[in-house]
Amino acid sequence: MKMNPVLLLAFVSLCVADYPDMDHHKTIYISENGPRLFLQMEQSKVISYRGGNATLPCKFHREASSGNGNSQKTRIKWTKLTADYLKETDVYVAMGVHRKSYGSYHGRTFLQGASENDASLIITDITLDDYGKYKCEVIEGLEDDTGVVTLDLQGVVYPYFPRIGRYNLNFKEAQQVCQDQDSVIASFDQLYDAWRGGLDWCNAGWLSDGSVQYPITKPREPCGGKDTVPGVRNYGYRDKDRNRYDVFCFTSNYKGRFYYLIHPTKLTYDEAVQACLKDGSQIAKVGQMYAAWKLMGYDRCDSGWLADGSVRYPISRPRRRCSPTEAAVRFVGFPDKKHKLYGVYCFRAYN
Ligand SMILES: *[C@@H]1O[C@H](CO)[C@@H](O)[C@H](O)[C@H]1NC(C)=O
Repeated sequence: MKMNPVLLLAFVSLCVADYPDMDHHKTIYISENGPRLFLQMEQSKVISYRGGNATLPCKFHREASSGNGNSQKTRIKWTKLTADYLKETDVYVAMGVHRKSYGSYHGRTFLQGASENDASLIITDITLDDYGKYKCEVIEGLEDDTGVVTLDLQGVVYPYFPRIGRYNLNFKEAQQVCQDQDSVIASFDQLYDAWRGGLDWCNAGWLSDGSVQYPITKPREPCGGKDTVPGVRNYGYRDKDRNRYDVFCFTSNYKGRFYYLIHPTKLTYDEAVQACLKDGSQIAKVGQMYAAWKLMGYDRCDSGWLADGSVRYPISRPRRRCSPTEAAVRFVGFPDKKHKLYGVYCFRAYN
């Protein structure tokens, strides 16, 4: 059983500062039983964005009694906790002069090393999958300590269902459709933040921890009851294979240009795909429209095809005949792909 190092220090300094004459402070056994090595995380949360960098803070300290330690034998290990907190995946390990990074973190992670006691990890070119909780562990001989820091990303959460219709996705398919829209399945914290920002959606969707929930800011009859308090309604953890719902996706900044293609005629879906290609781009994905709308204030009152076969338009300045009451990405539907009735939104990635 470990003492919280901060409490321990507070106790020790209290004894020394306030009771200098008493000599029993010299025999504080908790000091000997407690950790001689402990971590200080400085921040519990770091905020970045896709494509950005982040420094996850982690400093370690040794108590005087254990001497200066031996940095040759210090082992620093960073892991990431999975969305359900049940597992850890390896991110980065350093011991002496040896360094190793794992999987997608390879080539993107290094220690800040600002001082001898600095175990802070720098992650560059952040991806949507990097979002989550990271554990710093420092081991010296028999001593070790751990701390956790959250990497948060700025971005946007949106509800999604595919062309086949409402309540058709099991958990795996939900992850896949988000990925197809240049997004990831949202976490509960991301949905909660979106709800606090005003998101109201009356269809239940999967979240990354395997729960199914939906955010209500304006309580009403079909959405859990009229006389209920606003909140994120929770169906709990559902059967990931057999239960079918919509999904909440999350996306962040992109490196590229999102735009409405100026074209002399309205287009069918196939013509829309071709028109973007001809312009040196790709037909845009739903996540790219949401990111352009939310993060860059993109506003265009023209219905356009997107890659999933839906037709939508992004309004950030509400006005009559576009989206009179709220800033929103308006959903026209999944029309017949042969209908020659809409424009197209394209996306050109920067390399
Ligand atoms: C991230 O860090 C790398 C390496 O230090 C640097 O080249 C790059 O410009 C940084 N990117 C951003 C967005 O700050």
